[in-house]
Amino acid sequence: GLDSDESYEGASEASFKDAGVYDDAQRSNGSTSPENGIRKRRTTLPAPMFSRNNFSVWGILKKCIGLELSKITMPIVFNEPLSFLQRITEYMEHTYLINKACSLSDSIERMQAVAAFAVSAVASQWDRTGKPFNPLLGETYELTREDQGYRLISEQVSHHPPVSAFHAESLVGDFVFHGSIYPKLKFWGKSVEAEPKGTITLELLKHGEVYTWTNPFCCVHNVILGKLWIEQYGTVEILNHSTGDKCVLNFKPCGMFGKELHRVEGYIQDKSKKKLCVIYGKWTECMWSMDPQTYESNKKAEKKADSKKQKSPKLPDSQQKRGVDGDDADNMPEVLETVAVIPGSTLLWRISSRPQHSAKMYNFTNFAMSLNELEPGMQATLAPTDCRLRPDIRAMENGDMDQASREKERLEEKQRSARKDRSKVEEEWSTRWFQSGTNPYTSSQDWLYTGGYFDRKYSDLPDIY
Ligand SMILES: *[C@@H]1O[C@H](CO)[C@@H](O)[C@H](O)[C@H]1NC(C)=O
Ligand SMILES: *[C@@H]1O[C@H](CO)[C@@H](O)[C@H](O)[C@H]1NC(C)=O
Ligand SMILES: *[C@@H]1O[C@H](CO)[C@@H](O)[C@H](O)[C@H]1NC(C)=O
Repeated sequence: GLDSDESYEGASEASFKDAGVYDDAQRSNGSTSPENGIRKRRTTLPAPMFSRNNFSVWGILKKCIGLELSKITMPIVFNEPLSFLQRITEYMEHTYLINKACSLSDSIERMQAVAAFAVSAVASQWDRTGKPFNPLLGETYELTREDQGYRLISEQVSHHPPVSAFHAESLVGDFVFHGSIYPKLKFWGKSVEAEPKGTITLELLKHGEVYTWTNPFCCVHNVILGKLWIEQYGTVEILNHSTGDKCVLNFKPCGMFGKELHRVEGYIQDKSKKKLCVIYGKWTECMWSMDPQTYESNKKAEKKADSKKQKSPKLPDSQQKRGVDGDDADNMPEVLETVAVIPGSTLLWRISSRPQHSAKMYNFTNFAMSLNELEPGMQATLAPTDCRLRPDIRAMENGDMDQASREKERLEEKQRSARKDRSKVEEEWSTRWFQSGTNPYTSSQDWLYTGGYFDRKYSDLPDIY
């Protein structure tokens, strides 16, 4: 298959040498000792990533246009050493925004903090073109962050179609945050689009408030040639179920000239559709809020100025049209300006910068760097199904691509043969920590946590590795 060794022959160890971070990586790896009682998590991976330069994805994909991506096997070199369960845990990177929402007494300010959280939750996608590993059926991931005051458990509850369920809860009982994600990936010739099916629910317990939303679409451009880049687009509606008030966020597609690249604009409205506040910014940078009147009049003034400038030189033809046809790459428009802040706006959220060695490490954020760390003493308490114990991801993280590829193939084969065995005796798969049910707020199909994971009684767990 395409996962076999020859598919990454040539990506030699040379790529390790030019990765200047290697030494740093080794040095800071021993820094897990507690300091002031707070555990330090690792801030780097054990090894830098392999160069992908020598792989032609085109050769693999040109036969597969229109297929669902789960049916296409890609060489492991296009992965990043995280399971999709760990990738969705990255929603939690800015949990301080939920904590902030909990602490606010003004309901509009609470909605603003929740909206900022919803945007921040997808900000880690920026420049992350590596594909996370598909979780195996029954795979789990747990994360406890005392410093941010929450713990999370997730489980792969279905394989066909793939469904990942997660449940996070505040350690002091302020909130629960849960959802089930059905990523639908589609290959469109030059790009791969991920449709984020599934509902996300945030309950602020102290305020008796429930918010639900669905993530925007995510698209990876130029999977075949040209520079890879990520676009997120679509409307995200955050609904306050207690009142019917909502926040509508429009993740803008980048458009012909790239003017709208990464832009998010929206507003909070009440039941009678009265706009209470405007929210604007970029999901890659920051989000601001301000009152609708000032925002609109500012926009009008801007438009006027724009139309005066219209006789400015035209762009060359090649830049005018982001063609749908042809083999040309769809280049990411060059964006120089950042978010223009309108005086009187309030900052809701600003992205933290990524570590310097991020570019050599799959463009991970600091938070992502820590997710697959096997902290001292952890192995004794982890469920045997936890992603951190997955040998293929571990091998890839350590830079051993041959081993990673062999292990990935072995695990997938093991999963296939277990499925065959079950079907022989007509046994149904049973999930362990989540149950299929109806989301009480949206009435949509969902997977709900049944509790008990942190009692750590791991009886009846499947042997998936
Ligand atoms: C890619 O291939 C070229 C030529 O075949 C070779 O010189 C180069 O070292 C390879 N790069 C990597 C990162 O393996
Ligand atoms: C959300 O619902 C709560 C509970 O009814 C209400 O007090 C609050 O005003 C609403 N807030 C927003 C921003 O919609
Ligand atoms: C990391 O980001 C850079 C652009 O900043 C991009 O060229 C590169 O392809 C990205 N790498 C990965 C693994 O996504």
